[in-house]
Amino acid sequence: MEINNTCPSTTIYKHCSTSRRFLVGVLLVFLLFVVTGIILIVLASIKPCLFVRCHSRASLCINRSPFKGQCICDSYSAGNGRTVCDDCGLVYTRPNARIIGGVDADAHSWPFAVLIQQRYKRTVTVDDDTFLVSTTWMCGGTLINHQTVAHCLKTAGDTFNYRSFVFPIVWNKYYSNIESTIEVSVGLHDRRKKPGRRTIKVQEVIIHPSYSQQNLFNDIAIVKLEEYIQPSVNVQFVCLPYLLSNINVSGIVVGFGDTVPGANQGSLTLKQVNLTIYPNDFCDNVSPLTTKNWTTQICCGDLNGERDACQGDSGGGLFVQQNLSSVLRYTIHGIVSYGEQCASPMKPGIYTRVSSYLQWIQENSNF
Ligand SMILES: *[C@@H]1O[C@H](CO)[C@@H](O)[C@H](O)[C@H]1NC(C)=O
Ligand SMILES: *[C@@H]1O[C@H](CO)[C@@H](O)[C@H](O)[C@H]1NC(C)=O
Ligand SMILES: *[C@@H]1O[C@H](CO)[C@@H](O)[C@H](O)[C@H]1NC(C)=O
Ligand SMILES: *[C@@H]1O[C@H](CO)[C@@H](O)[C@H](O)[C@H]1NC(C)=O
Repeated sequence: MEINNTCPSTTIYKHCSTSRRFLVGVLLVFLLFVVTGIILIVLASIKPCLFVRCHSRASLCINRSPFKGQCICDSYSAGNGRTVCDDCGLVYTRPNARIIGGVDADAHSWPFAVLIQQRYKRTVTVDDDTFLVSTTWMCGGTLINHQTVAHCLKTAGDTFNYRSFVFPIVWNKYYSNIESTIEVSVGLHDRRKKPGRRTIKVQEVIIHPSYSQQNLFNDIAIVKLEEYIQPSVNVQFVCLPYLLSNINVSGIVVGFGDTVPGANQGSLTLKQVNLTIYPNDFCDNVSPLTTKNWTTQICCGDLNGERDACQGDSGGGLFVQQNLSSVLRYTIHGIVSYGEQCASPMKPGIYTRVSSYLQWIQENSNF
């Protein structure tokens, strides 16, 4: 019998068929890999949370931009949601409970309060003379994880006063951006004491994109620190307000701000004041020409006008004590925004309502 075909006999034919099947199999497996790969890539881009491993105390993951899932630490904990979800709002030195009208805080009884100092320098021309002018100002802030929330930061286009003149801030060879002007001190009680003071540089400042200088809407900023903060007895993270802010409850404001209205000196030690969160209409007569939005602002103060936040306290926290998961914790309900003078009777102050910015805070405080 002649064999002139490629696959004439049964045996050879079988062999031929096996190799063809083998090729088809390889191709199929390859296709399977490609298809699975594509499906995985598509999934990772639209549902990145499926691939993100969150911390055991972070039960929420939010699908952010393609390939980015963000783990959110559960209420009463703070951190990046992946490797860290620390307890929040704890204090190890019990705050002084007998406070009236702004008193010295017990040292380190507000371990989430920070001091933010901003420095700036530029040449200005006054009456044909040119001077190099430096200026500093400060505001409060609160540690929410290894970062800070604050406001009262000045940036290019804002102004500062020198004698009776007002000059705009422009970035220059001394200060090239807002980050370079800022230093944050954590675990600080006395501004005079250098030892034990931890001062940290700033990586990024995120001012709320809808911040309005005119009516101080959205008066909130996130300051990302260059260093990673480990919590300790003197340094803690505050809890974010997942519960609504009730009215007629007492809250505590802390800060290094002025203790005498108009002094512009600030206080050398951290002060605290016990205030009341009032119904919104109690603030209708505070700067009546400035529009309020009670969805995003809080009215808080002391109707007797004996206690208030003042110059330099801006950005500081309004803390409410709550028994959360069987532990007394402090939650940041407000951020000192503005008032009409300091401690004037019947004129409480206006605070940024932190609970209405939770999503913005979460989106921007990734680290
Ligand atoms: C603040 O004052 C209220 C009532 O005046 C009081 O119940 C509360 O304990 C005080 N808070 C602190 C921390 O002292
Ligand atoms: C809050 O206090 C004010 C004045 O004391 C009172 O008129 C108002 O009814 C209180 N509101 C609530 C919800 O307790
Ligand atoms: C108040 O702020 C909220 C949240 O930004 C906004 O949706 C609402 O339109 C504002 N209300 C007014 C009256 O501007
Ligand atoms: C907090 O609440 C829990 C249960 O509701 C209670 O057992 C505990 O004593 C409270 N702690 C404080 C300090 O009030």
